[in-house]
Amino acid sequence: MRPSQIQILLAGLLLNIVASQAGPSCPDYSVYSKSRHEPFSSGKHALSSARPAPSCRTFNSTAVETLLSNMIPAIADPDLYRLFQNTYPNTLDTAVRWRGHASDNPAEELAFVITGDIDAMWLRDSANQLQSYQAALEPDPAEASRADSVASLYRGVINLQARYLLTAPFCNSFQPPAESGLAPAGNPAAASDVVFPPYDKSAVFECKWELDSLAAFLQLSATYYESTHDAAFFGRFLWLEAVQAVLETARSMMAPTYDPDGTGAVLPAAYTFTRQTTRSTETLANDGLGSPVRATGMVRSAFRPSDDATMLQFLVPANMMFARFLGSARLIVDALGERAPAGLVDEMAALSASIREAVTRHGIVPVVSANGSSVETVYAYEVDGYGGAVVMDDANLPSLLAAPVFGYLANIDPVYARTRARLLSAEGNPYFMKGSVLNAIGGPHAGPGMAWPMASIVRILTSSDDDEIVRVLRELVNSTDGLGLMHESVNSNNASQWTRQWFSWANGLFGQMILDLHTRKPHILQQSFQ
Ligand SMILES: *[C@@H]1O[C@H](CO)[C@@H](O)[C@H](O)[C@H]1NC(C)=O
Ligand SMILES: *[C@@H]1O[C@H](CO)[C@@H](O)[C@H](O)[C@H]1NC(C)=O
Ligand SMILES: *[C@@H]1O[C@H](CO)[C@@H](O)[C@H](O)[C@H]1NC(C)=O
Ligand SMILES: *[C@@H]1O[C@H](CO)[C@@H](O)[C@H](O)[C@H]1NC(C)=O
Repeated sequence: MRPSQIQILLAGLLLNIVASQAGPSCPDYSVYSKSRHEPFSSGKHALSSARPAPSCRTFNSTAVETLLSNMIPAIADPDLYRLFQNTYPNTLDTAVRWRGHASDNPAEELAFVITGDIDAMWLRDSANQLQSYQAALEPDPAEASRADSVASLYRGVINLQARYLLTAPFCNSFQPPAESGLAPAGNPAAASDVVFPPYDKSAVFECKWELDSLAAFLQLSATYYESTHDAAFFGRFLWLEAVQAVLETARSMMAPTYDPDGTGAVLPAAYTFTRQTTRSTETLANDGLGSPVRATGMVRSAFRPSDDATMLQFLVPANMMFARFLGSARLIVDALGERAPAGLVDEMAALSASIREAVTRHGIVPVVSANGSSVETVYAYEVDGYGGAVVMDDANLPSLLAAPVFGYLANIDPVYARTRARLLSAEGNPYFMKGSVLNAIGGPHAGPGMAWPMASIVRILTSSDDDEIVRVLRELVNSTDGLGLMHESVNSNNASQWTRQWFSWANGLFGQMILDLHTRKPHILQQSFQ
């Protein structure tokens, strides 16, 4: 049957509408990033040119373009440079889905930043994605106030995150704001979810309670403030209210499972989650409560930053990160003076200190050394306050490995150094993947055998050892399957098996690591990685 004239007309109209969102002739980046594009880099890996054409990029930053060209003489290896050039601008090039202003306040900037191949905004991913561009944040107030500044993008994300936290503070990923006119993305995986407190699917993409989502908001805020000193911004819109929601939510998740009055009564839970699934990591034990915990002074997290369920709910790296950035965000509230609610600064400082104390008291556990001949103390990944501990690390940030990256401690801290050595060994960490291609921490999300480039990046960021850095960087350059982008995970023995072709967070983090090496170890960037 031939389509009627009207059908042809309608199809044409629809095509126009869809096309105008991404630019008239722009390929879908989830397809584009799966194939190789010329010109290839001149090294033996012949890496693809993975940046979209300039007219298809979703945000232009002169500061980032200048950084890219300034790094040409700093990076000697053509494949390593290509990797930097492809990855660093990836969020700006591809993931800034919409920018605009709040319908009820034309001064309030909003920015909807997607993860890449998943068309929704995660609190954690979007904060990390922007975090990569701290080096491009304009310190000059006149420049920072411009609508095309990186600072404006930060403000847009901070404002939208604040709105999200006030809408559904237990949730991890969100739909486009109504102002964008973008349709909410479908999430078939969440169709069977039963979540308390209930949420609105037109606003929320998924509602997994992850403590680090709150920490990510505080971190992003602190980064913006440290680079721009623009405290006034935080007093203008919803930020202070969002910080109060963060504190209230975290406090509600410090409660133990049983009433401490000794009656044995199970306390009503502030959050529960169940899903019909064949993966144990996609739902919670005990009909949505999670495994029982005692009160420790730490905050429970139902899910990890991989979006997999915790085995024991006191996720140590998330508590570290939350304590760290409560401490930094406190300085913003302090700078707001009388505009901030009385007592808020002290409350943030006290909670930050008490969580730190709890991490030290309950998060450091004795384990038999990998050679079986002695007992050493290390940071556990998860604990429950009953003496139970999960000793491992997962690639996603915040991880234990990344504790120095988010500034909780220094890499020379003796407990950290012991923990790091254990986590980077196949004998001490059940999720350390060994292989001929990539030796790195992975996790249950992509499963055994799949090593995560993100963990290799963090290994470099936390290493002072040139040999270790060069070895790990060489593996990264050799493991992109010619595509020149960071994958989520790579089969540790076969670079052509990988997950996620368009994962903007990992891409930005790779660029951030290269900039860090440029400061700390510029001689390494002068080496060949052929
Ligand atoms: C970025 O700049 C290019 C020109 O180089 C332009 O075609 C494109 O529309 C710009 N993108 C945005 C989001 O402004
Ligand atoms: C076993 O490992 C511990 C801790 O790493 C170390 O102190 C000890 O010397 C090792 N013992 C042997 C026999 O290798
Ligand atoms: C690596 O994976 C690819 C894609 O799945 C497959 O075709 C190839 O045979 C694998 N190579 C080895 C050595 O197993
Ligand atoms: C590079 O990767 C290939 C597989 O893609 C692997 O066979 C080879 O051992 C790797 N080389 C190095 C130096 O890591």
